Amino acid sequence: MNQAMTMTGMMQAVEYDQYGPPRVLETRTVTRPRADHGQALVRVHASSVNPIDTIIRSGKLRLRTGRKFPKRIGIDFVGEIVEIETEAPDFKVGDRVWGVMLSVESGVGQGTAAEFVTISTTRISLSPKSLNFIEAAAISSVGAVAIITLRDKAKLRPGERLLVRGAAGGVGCMAVQLGKVLGAHVTALASAHDLVFLKELGADEALDYRTTTPSSLEPFDVVLDLVGTNLSKYRGLLSRRGRMYCLALSSRSIAYMLASHIFGSKRVQFFSAAPMRDTMTDLAAYVDAGSIRPVVHSIYGLDKIAEAHLSLEAGGGRGKRVVKHTDG
Ligand SMILES: NC(=O)c1ccc[n+]([C@@H]2O[C@H](COP(=O)([O-])OP(=O)(O)OC[C@H]3O[C@@H](n4cnc5c(N)ncnc54)[C@H](OP(=O)(O)O)[C@@H]3O)[C@@H](O)[C@H]2O)c1
Repeated sequence: MNQAMTMTGMMQAVEYDQYGPPRVLETRTVTRPRADHGQALVRVHASSVNPIDTIIRSGKLRLRTGRKFPKRIGIDFVGEIVEIETEAPDFKVGDRVWGVMLSVESGVGQGTAAEFVTISTTRISLSPKSLNFIEAAAISSVGAVAIITLRDKAKLRPGERLLVRGAAGGVGCMAVQLGKVLGAHVTALASAHDLVFLKELGADEALDYRTTTPSSLEPFDVVLDLVGTNLSKYRGLLSRRGRMYCLALSSRSIAYMLASHIFGSKRVQFFSAAPMRDTMTDLAAYVDAGSIRPVVHSIYGLDKIAEAHLSLEAGGGRGKRVVKHTDG
């Protein structure tokens, strides 16, 4: 950002005027927001690209996201507080913080692909001391999703058997590590070329999803499905007290999850994870204790965010596509 922009209260932000492919994304000069009551103004140093960004941008959720343009993009960030109300006791200007800007009601992101964001102080925490901004951005939203799903909702217990489907992706890499922190036996299903990596990350077993059939697997206490296909087969693997969570959104997965509430005793559960300060604080503690480490797939400048979307949509690779907003 140049000096003139700081003086005039302007900033760079990524926007789009119509749903469509990654090329609809444009970096524009827009008005810089001001911190309102209970909010912090954060200079964003890095963010990441999540599947929900590409789903919203392509218009697949248009019934929910509407036709009001321009829209912003991005749900997570890592940055530094530059403005805050003096009476806010927990934070001060200069603090390094992270958070997820996802509306609890709509599940829709609120535009972190920008030089500055304003956010309620109830939704941020100090970011891990042991990581730089890029590394932290590879963890913020996906690590929070793993905590909310495995620790808070599934209440995964030591000795339980956990299956992570889609284990090498952004959420999967976090779920494998958190599963081990919580004392579970972790089985990871992923592409053949990611199996050694997943064992290094902590998985007790890592299996190739192209050659492993559900019928060849032992029962699981918790199934975390990040793929969204063949749900009935994986639901059939649940132990007597088994719990299954499918976070992948597709018309078929939604239909199956709804049907599972009617047929059979074990529901497949979906939710939109919108973490608050406690979750982000706990995540930072896991990271600083050395229990969770970042997995960075690739790094893009803010003006190259369309390339990050293209890469995520092409699939494959391990961990997170990170967007670098500054040289800090
Ligand atoms: N509800 C929520 O709050 C929430 C939050 C975060 C994410 N999500 C959803 O969760 C899903 C995963 O997110 P993510 O960020 O982890 O995505 P990601 O980084 O794109 O990872 C997806 C992974 O799934 C693997 N995969 C594809 N087909 C597979 C199969 N049949 N069996 C096993 N693995 C397979 C891919 O591996 P290959 O490319 O090698 O095939 C890739 O590593 C997305 O649908 C996302 O929208 C929901």
